[in-house]
Amino acid sequence: MTERITDQAMKVLLSREQISRRVSELGLEIAKDYRGRTPHLVGILKGAWVFMADLIRQIDIDVTVDFLGITSYGAGVQSSGEVKITKDLDVSIEGRDVLIVEDILDTGHTFKFLQEVLSVHQPRSLRLVALLDKASRRVVPVRADYVGFEIPDVFVVGYGLDFNQQYRQLPDVCVLRSRSSV
Ligand code: IMP
Ligand code: MG
Repeated sequence: MTERITDQAMKVLLSREQISRRVSELGLEIAKDYRGRTPHLVGILKGAWVFMADLIRQIDIDVTVDFLGITSYGAGVQSSGEVKITKDLDVSIEGRDVLIVEDILDTGHTFKFLQEVLSVHQPRSLRLVALLDKASRRVVPVRADYVGFEIPDVFVVGYGLDFNQQYRQLPDVCVLRSRSSV
């Protein structure tokens, strides 16, 4: 029989309440910084869509949204440094205040790739909001303009983040442990 999610040992790193409070704060900060403009939020699929759905509802100024699909990892946990576009943007970002919405900033390879491919299209500005930041893992010297939480070097799942495409639906950000380690 297939192992169910409830069979796995999960340790909650960030609870849904903590996430919700921080996302509200980020929304307020973003609305304040972009007041008088209409930022164009570009969510990076698939990891960022849960965060993006909550975040836009906490930004009380006009925004537009689009999604960019990429694969940065294969089926495992290590960074390959190779990023491939699987779904392109639907509308032009030329002259727009683009805010990239990412689930997690890890080695920095993905964000550097995004900066390079998006800046070619001449946005007015290009910033990044990342829910999570594993700053200690950085290989490429990039930083997010807005960070939800800085976290240690652990592999996390839930709230949109996956391991082998699983666990995206967990409401909390959790550290996945094998049952043998509990
Ligand atoms: P970077 O290119 O190493 O910065 O990787 C960023 C991407 O790696 C994120 O958008 C995630 O898709 C993935 N990633 C990095 N760390 C984790 C993690 O702990 N859990 C799930 N995905 C992760
Ligand atoms: Mg991702």
